[in-house]
Amino acid sequence: MKITLNLLSILALINNLGGQEALAAPDPGLAAWHLDNLYPLATERFDPVVNPNGVASHLHRIVGGSQFGANYNYDQYNGASCSSAAVQADKSNYWMPQLFWRENNTYVPLKAGTRFYYFLHRNSPNEPVKPFPPGLRMLVGNLNAKSYGDTGLPTGALNFICLKNHFSTPNGDTAGPDFNFDIDCPQGLVTTVRFPTCWDGVNLYKADGSHMKYTDNLQFGVCPLSHPVRIPGIMLEYTWQTYAYRPGVPLRNKLIWANGDTTGYGLHSDFVNGWDTDVLNQALNDPDCLTGDMTMTACPTLAMYMNLGTAQNCQPERGVLESYTDFQPLGALPGCNLPWSSGSKPACNPNPTQPTIPAALKGTDGSLTYSGPPYTNSTSSPPNTWTRQGCIGGQTSLTNSFQYSDAAMTQDKCQSTCGEWGMQYSGLLSGQYCVCGSDVDPGAFHYADSNCNSKCAGDATKTCGGNGKLELFRNPSATTVIHPGITDPQYIGCRREGSTGHALSAAYINYDGMTIEWCKNYCKAQKQSIAAIEFGRTCMCGNSWTNGGGTPYPQNQCNVPCKGNTNQICGGSQITLSTFNLTLPGGGGSGNPSPSPSSASVSASSSATQSGVVTVTKTVTITGTCSTPAGRRRNHRDMKLFGQVI
Ligand SMILES: *[C@@H]1O[C@H](CO)[C@@H](O)[C@H](O)[C@H]1NC(C)=O
Ligand SMILES: *[C@@H]1O[C@H](CO)[C@@H](O)[C@H](O)[C@H]1NC(C)=O
Ligand SMILES: *[C@@H]1O[C@H](CO)[C@@H](O)[C@H](O)[C@H]1NC(C)=O
Repeated sequence: MKITLNLLSILALINNLGGQEALAAPDPGLAAWHLDNLYPLATERFDPVVNPNGVASHLHRIVGGSQFGANYNYDQYNGASCSSAAVQADKSNYWMPQLFWRENNTYVPLKAGTRFYYFLHRNSPNEPVKPFPPGLRMLVGNLNAKSYGDTGLPTGALNFICLKNHFSTPNGDTAGPDFNFDIDCPQGLVTTVRFPTCWDGVNLYKADGSHMKYTDNLQFGVCPLSHPVRIPGIMLEYTWQTYAYRPGVPLRNKLIWANGDTTGYGLHSDFVNGWDTDVLNQALNDPDCLTGDMTMTACPTLAMYMNLGTAQNCQPERGVLESYTDFQPLGALPGCNLPWSSGSKPACNPNPTQPTIPAALKGTDGSLTYSGPPYTNSTSSPPNTWTRQGCIGGQTSLTNSFQYSDAAMTQDKCQSTCGEWGMQYSGLLSGQYCVCGSDVDPGAFHYADSNCNSKCAGDATKTCGGNGKLELFRNPSATTVIHPGITDPQYIGCRREGSTGHALSAAYINYDGMTIEWCKNYCKAQKQSIAAIEFGRTCMCGNSWTNGGGTPYPQNQCNVPCKGNTNQICGGSQITLSTFNLTLPGGGGSGNPSPSPSSASVSASSSATQSGVVTVTKTVTITGTCSTPAGRRRNHRDMKLFGQVI
């Protein structure tokens, strides 16, 4: 029996189920292929992805290429003589666990019709959808899951649809998060699994699945920057013939996956790529194949490879491990798979013996990393140059990051600051903000360039990001901190003063004879490990940054000569500090002896930053109250940025 669900009805069901708003967003690149003719290839305990050259823990129902066996490598699978999928250019294999009807201590393997979708949705019309890389393996779902949350999957990645009168009223079907429907499903139970569509460009399989990611909303939307290669989004769909075995009987408590799971949430699915890459690539670039939701036969490139007869007669050419017949009752699930609804998996006593794998079904396994031509250019950058990486957003976008603003921001200024601080990523935001970071947050996403449309505040001919979106540049050579103009080995850069008080709170002092050595010696006498100077004459000390201060700032914002030595720089005139780490290894300092505690008596409490009357006797001239009352600092335009999350 052939079940044809149309795309929109499935989407409608998914939407009803998950409250997703996928349909609300018009998708410029909407296109999808579906293939309705996939025939069963084998039902056996193999999973070359999870158990290479071993016996899988439970039974799978497999469709696709005839080279399927205990191992997987692309060349072997791609060379299969036939596929049970109608398009013979696709020698991939697809599988789900076998579903059983459980009644009166018997387990009946149900027959299923199989079909799939390839969603080819793009976030922007020109975004390429690439063929699967040779050797790609994917596993979706968690066979131990006992709730949807356990699966770790986005809403809608697994679906169960009870078909009632699908052909006359497709929207009258019932969707659920699991297979325990309280009704019978007179036209079958559909289980669907959606595979992620974003690949990291490097790894062909990782056991934790981290080589693949979903877009930011499952099907539409954008790929994370960490996974820049967009591939077709497979939705594998099995329609189980519950109606043929037990017509009229509600499904609840009657179904069990091959691994013993009775909740339904243990649904999982695998894909191993066997596609003829050239054919798939041609189809993905054929305008006649991208006009909307179509069957694969409507795509002229793929129609060339259609052969239903071959698909129907395709048999595993290396033999099979075991075989089971649909609807033939068994006394137990193959393997150690007792019914399991909660808690830890029930053990078997004794453990059932494993079948022996015939030699023909074993073989070499393919590489786990991709070594062909690069799928994307986005990470390549010539040394010592900043290369545009695109418009990104989402989460924090950059890790280990700091940001600052400049009313005359340019791309060059931001890049130069990030380089100074040894940060290889430089991102511009909303025209006047610069964000420097050491890496891209794996959760960040690429957006269309049109989202980065803010003119740079200091150069209207260029764009500096957008609202909540970073215009990202990368210079892989920016790995060392250079502090131009300051050679003191203890110098740790131009940094920001605190927003609610001084950036260092243990002591501070104003002195018109201020030099770098003087401030360092003062802080050593105060037994503090960090010294900072601003306004050419204010020295402050502490063991850690306070009041939100200490974040990196562009070097050129520290530009005020020291009052006691105009050849030295002592911070900035507004909110920036020249900072020194007195405990840096190898930092010998000037060698000047510390002033003895008796030569300067300073009363500075840990809250001296607020009102700031400092009394110093003998060696130091006091010039009055703190010259940087909090009220004045608060007026600076970038104060409001503190705590802003980008
Ligand atoms: C299971 O047993 C019950 C009671 O004897 C019977 O009504 C039902 O038909 C049996 N189910 C199957 C699948 O044989
Ligand atoms: C990568 O660079 C090559 C050569 O410059 C270019 O032909 C190709 O289109 C680029 N690929 C992508 C994905 O940008
Ligand atoms: C100062 O240097 C020490 C030793 O290298 C280091 O542990 C500490 O983190 C540094 N402190 C600052 C504020 O840079």
